[in-house]
Amino acid sequence: MSAVLAAHAWASNAELIAACAQLGYLRADWHTLDPTYERGTWWKVWRPERLTTHHRAVDGSDFRSLPYPDDSFDAVAYDPPFVCPGGRKTSTVQEMHARYGMAEGGHADPMFRTPSELQAIIDAGLTEMVRLVRPPRTKRDGGVILVKCQNYIWSGELWEGAERTREHAVGLGCTVVDRLEMIGTPGPQPTTNRDGSPRRQVHARRNLSTMFVLRAPRRLSGTLFDSASAIGAASCVDTLDVGAVVE
Ligand SMILES: C[S@@+](CC[C@H](N)C(=O)[O-])C[C@H]1O[C@@H](n2cnc3c(N)ncnc32)[C@H](O)[C@@H]1O
Repeated sequence: MSAVLAAHAWASNAELIAACAQLGYLRADWHTLDPTYERGTWWKVWRPERLTTHHRAVDGSDFRSLPYPDDSFDAVAYDPPFVCPGGRKTSTVQEMHARYGMAEGGHADPMFRTPSELQAIIDAGLTEMVRLVRPPRTKRDGGVILVKCQNYIWSGELWEGAERTREHAVGLGCTVVDRLEMIGTPGPQPTTNRDGSPRRQVHARRNLSTMFVLRAPRRLSGTLFDSASAIGAASCVDTLDVGAVVE
């Protein structure tokens, strides 16, 4: 089995998920939640034995509020919409709106119109995922959240969606365990503006998306803390049994 690289042109998200499983970030016997299953493309190469899925278009679910008690899953694979389309009403944009679940009430009624509105949705979903994943009992025992995100150009400015998602996760007490950069093939760089004038490229074209591997904060006697801040207490925490880990 070849080494998993931090940045790689995986053929699809399914291969990326398989790489995460190879690294032990997902395990076959863990009860895993996929709240954004849609076509299930993440699980076409590797799939856990127990996978709970939701697809908004089918069951009307909202990943910001799912009907499960706290700590219901060992791992979560969260693939929210992570690129906000520009304002132009081209057929490509409309198709993308539909594909990424933005066409809530039709194309004229997107769920979000700006990167910050989209980020608020991503962040609210991530907060819900942290609630739903059981805290790890030991350093490598569950509590894993995979989240896909991306930096992109919107309205001529760089929107650091990956960094913002990371910041939100860290603010929730998550530890960033790994970061896998999926290199893709971007569409052609536009050469003209809408008025037909020549267009100069001013930003590097984004040809990668990011999969963060997060570990939910451990809980000890009602205190949230992550492994980085708990170095001194780690050996103690690692020997706790389930009953000792309390909210
Ligand atoms: C990037 S796609 C997921 C693709 C999926 N991983 C697959 O393999 O086909 C994002 C999904 O999130 C859904 N979505 C968007 N907002 C949502 C929300 N608030 N709650 C639940 N699902 C949402 C969209 O409908 C879309 O299916």
